[in-house]
Amino acid sequence: MKITAVEEKDFSEVMALIRAEFPYVSFDEEKIRKRIASGKIFLFKAIEAKKLIGFIELEMFEGIARINGLTVKLAHRKKGVAKKLLDYAIAFVKKKGVGRILLLVKQGNKAAKKLYKEAGFNFIGMYNRELDNTVVEEMELDFLPKDAEDLDYVG
Ligand SMILES: CC(C)(COP(=O)(O)OP(=O)(O)OC[C@H]1O[C@@H](n2cnc3c(N)ncnc32)[C@H](O)[C@@H]1OP(=O)(O)O)[C@@H](O)C(=O)NCCC(=O)NCCS
Repeated sequence: MKITAVEEKDFSEVMALIRAEFPYVSFDEEKIRKRIASGKIFLFKAIEAKKLIGFIELEMFEGIARINGLTVKLAHRKKGVAKKLLDYAIAFVKKKGVGRILLLVKQGNKAAKKLYKEAGFNFIGMYNRELDNTVVEEMELDFLPKDAEDLDYVG
């Protein structure tokens, strides 16, 4: 399995996954193109036998990143693909010098919550609105040491 950036030729596959797993999101291929072109949104795909089997979407803000979506095709689940995509995204964020990642997860999504917890994410509170008529939790991964954030000089 390999992880690389999503390209134009993958958009229809990505759209199919979004429609299946995140039906409340109103996306089309043009929107994906624009989001990537913004330079703030990064999509990474997992490929096996030249086929896209999952993807993760990351959004970079000033000093913080957010995972907007992560999904793996049904036939490829429970084989560590999501974990690899998540690790890849975390390493990407670290390399950019950003020390904090946020994400939203449906309260009842046990598989995703376990995956995120094992990657070091902590529950920080309930999100202020529902998604898809479902209560949503906010989680964060903070990998800068607390004292490093408090430094007010660099010597
Ligand atoms: C959540 C999802 C991305 C996990 O993908 P996956 O490739 O099957 O996950 P992995 O194989 O990498 O699993 C990594 C860890 O996650 C947890 N996990 C994954 N699937 C699980 C399940 N069905 N039940 C319980 N734990 C699960 C386990 O802790 C697992 O580690 P382990 O194998 O050592 O026990 C996948 O189920 C999916 O695409 N779901 C639909 C979309 C979604 O809910 N996305 C997340 C919200 S943004």
